[in-house]
Amino acid sequence: MNQSPRTPVIAGNWKMNLNPGEAAALIRETKPLVADAGCGVVFCVPFVDLHAALEAARGSNIKIGAQNCHWEEKGAFTGEISARMLRDIGAEYVITGHSERRALFGDTNETVARRSRAALDAGLTVILCVGEYLEQRQQDITLEVVRTQTKIALAGISAAELARVIIAYEPVWAIGTGLTATAEQANEVSRGIRGLLGELYGQASADGAVIQYGGSMNAANAASLLAQPEVDGGLIGGASLKAADFAAIVAAADASGTASRA
Ligand code: 13P
Repeated sequence: MNQSPRTPVIAGNWKMNLNPGEAAALIRETKPLVADAGCGVVFCVPFVDLHAALEAARGSNIKIGAQNCHWEEKGAFTGEISARMLRDIGAEYVITGHSERRALFGDTNETVARRSRAALDAGLTVILCVGEYLEQRQQDITLEVVRTQTKIALAGISAAELARVIIAYEPVWAIGTGLTATAEQANEVSRGIRGLLGELYGQASADGAVIQYGGSMNAANAASLLAQPEVDGGLIGGASLKAADFAAIVAAADASGTASRA
């Protein structure tokens, strides 16, 4: 049983899936299934789905976010979307530093830091993704990698702002592969990240920080991952596209925290 005092957050990352009509339908289907959730529930959707998703989620406990933002507020940045634009439309969350953006679209620790900074300035909550490649795990440098990613992304972010930062530990080798970190691996890396937060911000801030696990989390494996004391929720890819599977993960998060919050 997870004895953490933190309220877990289960966030779906839809990636480049679902058009606005499909987005609204999935949210309408999910809404009643998660209505009694004790944890936070978020869907991070494609930009073009934001409006439909916000409309469909209105009046429910489902929060809506995006999957990326630019660091400038406006200007000649063809094809980009600013954090302020996301906030203006009603989004409350944004993912920064997802490994797909790092690997496929040139994001670096420095651009992730700038995106995160802009998101906080715009009033958004950041879901900051960090995680190692398989070779890095095999070289036994996982903790160094995620510490470096986290430290650079958080440079210039205050302890007060850290309350609007969720860190998602997503081992790259577990994303979309069906491979999952063991519960012990997820817990160990999360503990390492929390240790860094303690060094940077002090113990109280570190103890309050939400650290999710992401990487092939699904209805079957969620309970054991979420039972870990350092794992405060999940960032869910494929399984967030099915209402029943996503709701089962939300239920697992609630079950993991019931004893500790009772
Ligand atoms: P999967 O759950 O599909 O492995 O994706 C995880 C992820 O990348 C969430 O951001």
